[in-house]
Amino acid sequence: MNLTVANIRDEADGIRSFRLVDPDGAALPPYEPGAHIDVTAPGGVTRQYSLCGSPDDDSAYLIAVKREPASRGGSASLHADVSEGDQLAVGAPRNLFALDPAAPEHLLFGAGIGITPLLSMAYRLQRSGSRYTLHYFARSPDTAAFADLLASDRFAGNVRFHYGVAPDALDRALRACLAQAACGGAAHVYTCGPAPFMQRVLAAAAEGRADDAIHLEHFAAEPVAAPAGGDQSFDVVLAQSGRVLSVPAGMAMVDVLAQAGIVIDTSCREGICGTCVVPVLEGEPDHRDHCLSRKEKAANDQVCACVSRSRSARLVLDL
Ligand code: FES
Repeated sequence: MNLTVANIRDEADGIRSFRLVDPDGAALPPYEPGAHIDVTAPGGVTRQYSLCGSPDDDSAYLIAVKREPASRGGSASLHADVSEGDQLAVGAPRNLFALDPAAPEHLLFGAGIGITPLLSMAYRLQRSGSRYTLHYFARSPDTAAFADLLASDRFAGNVRFHYGVAPDALDRALRACLAQAACGGAAHVYTCGPAPFMQRVLAAAAEGRADDAIHLEHFAAEPVAAPAGGDQSFDVVLAQSGRVLSVPAGMAMVDVLAQAGIVIDTSCREGICGTCVVPVLEGEPDHRDHCLSRKEKAANDQVCACVSRSRSARLVLDL
């Protein structure tokens, strides 16, 4: 889709929001809270951004972009090169960070720009009358995007702000938040933010909580270590034609498939977005992505073809 930038707003230090609408005013495809879209910046770089407006508003998509000092052209270009009235190429919404409708309570933990998918969740949870608390960690009010909105009556006191929590006080603060859950370990935990923050949330939440009650969203890929001894080659078997392709060490499965004329859509190529996931019929994938859940990885019936490899000598794909 080519969408028009209807509004640009500075939301906090270095964080700018972009409200995107259909050029003819048509309704946009629906999405569920936690969804993200691919956005191609004028510089040509495509990145994923969480939708942070109300999921019940089909008139616009709202994204918020933090200008990253080490930006390779995504956030820097959106900040520097985009004005109201411009058009941006945008992909359809995808969701790898959905609310679990069966959860009796939802605890949302966001830090920094990680507030974005949680804001869209808060809209839905508030509207549906669900039991939830959003815990927002930021250095200071100046750096907390959407703080006024989240403090407003709209969210009816379900948001707690935690400003300037020192790293050595974070575990205690997180445990205190978790201890306030009315439903205890049955409450589902959702987190998005810098990787070290999410790791601390995961560790605290894992005490007395099932794996599938913990949900997280990555913004940038943390490298996943190759096995001791380095990557090995393996064979990919294409079940529908019986073709066998060899994937050498140092080459991605998607690239081997593309060379053989089988083009798998990709977007991030970092194991974050889930665009390149393909079904597996046999074999044991070596999952190196950040988008499949632990449960999905354990099932071994799909693989992220941009970054993952194979532990078994053969991986049979349903292609
Ligand atoms: S292309 Fe994004 S996960 Fe593979």
